[in-house]
Amino acid sequence: MDINLISAQIKEELDKIVSCDQLEALRLKYLGRKGVIAELTGSIPAVNPQERGAFGKAVNALKQQLFVSLEEKQRSLGVSKAPAPESAETDLGMPGIAQELGHKHPITGIIDQVCGIFSQMGFKVLEGPEIETEHNNFTGLNIPLEHPSRDAFDTFYLKDYEKLLLRSHTSPMQVRAMAKSKPPLAIVVPGRVYRPDAVDASHLFMFHQIEGLMVDQGVKFSDLKGVLEVFVKAVFGKDVAMRFRPHFFPFTEPSVEVDISCIICKGKGCSVCGRKGWLEILGAGLVHPNVFQQAGYDAKKFSGFAFGMGVERIAMLKYGINDIRLFFENDLRFLKQF
Ligand code: PHE
Repeated sequence: MDINLISAQIKEELDKIVSCDQLEALRLKYLGRKGVIAELTGSIPAVNPQERGAFGKAVNALKQQLFVSLEEKQRSLGVSKAPAPESAETDLGMPGIAQELGHKHPITGIIDQVCGIFSQMGFKVLEGPEIETEHNNFTGLNIPLEHPSRDAFDTFYLKDYEKLLLRSHTSPMQVRAMAKSKPPLAIVVPGRVYRPDAVDASHLFMFHQIEGLMVDQGVKFSDLKGVLEVFVKAVFGKDVAMRFRPHFFPFTEPSVEVDISCIICKGKGCSVCGRKGWLEILGAGLVHPNVFQQAGYDAKKFSGFAFGMGVERIAMLKYGINDIRLFFENDLRFLKQF
């Protein structure tokens, strides 16, 4: 049998095919179990030894060619099988699978913004451990043994370690920072704090604070006021007013609570500010001499200020959020708004 002849014949027959049935019939005729190719393959052993190799190769080539031709024809008939991924049919213009981009959690966003404002003023950003010693959380901060905040109702103590607790504020980082370095010192410390409060719209057992501490020779109350004014205007806008109200903290003297004019009613009085026109945003004061003394700083030579703010509270005021729990429920409908 002349292979070239068969090849020419196949081509001729293929050209005439107009339906899938015809194509299938041709496939069976040549590639079927008793088809022409099988017959040719079966005749290989009978070919004389000199020509057998070349003949075998020619049969193989014909078979491969036939596969290709059948596939081409099938495609041209519009009934192509699903193309293999690496075939020319792969659609490189098809849009890819979009990767959803996340963004910062609103609390992280506020922390970054606030720390950014203070670092522009020369404060260093530090972080500290959430498990603290009683000394750093209370004693080193001039908080007396009988102070109610030391009570187990107000602080999470670690069960088997009487002297360890979950820090109830970021102020223990004042103690750590002063133990580590000598003045001058200017730091801000963001981080989580813990209190055994019943959960409601304004309380959680965990929230975030940012602590600030500056110590040098001749640091005055007006320095505190100036620094906080820059912070308040950067976060809440230039038109916001700020006021200091006398308060008490064991680790600062004098101590203040800092209010801003209500950003909802602009000071006129509304339900958010409890008709007062002012919103409390942080606690602050001049570092108490007893705190310096515990840290081994010379209280006659150095002075300083400290402040502490609740990050969730700042975020709630800034974005008009009325329930603190929303921050930690991981509800994307809420989180996607920031
Ligand atoms: N640690 C105080 C609190 O948690 C805040 C504060 C910090 C007040 C520093 C004064 C100075 O309420």
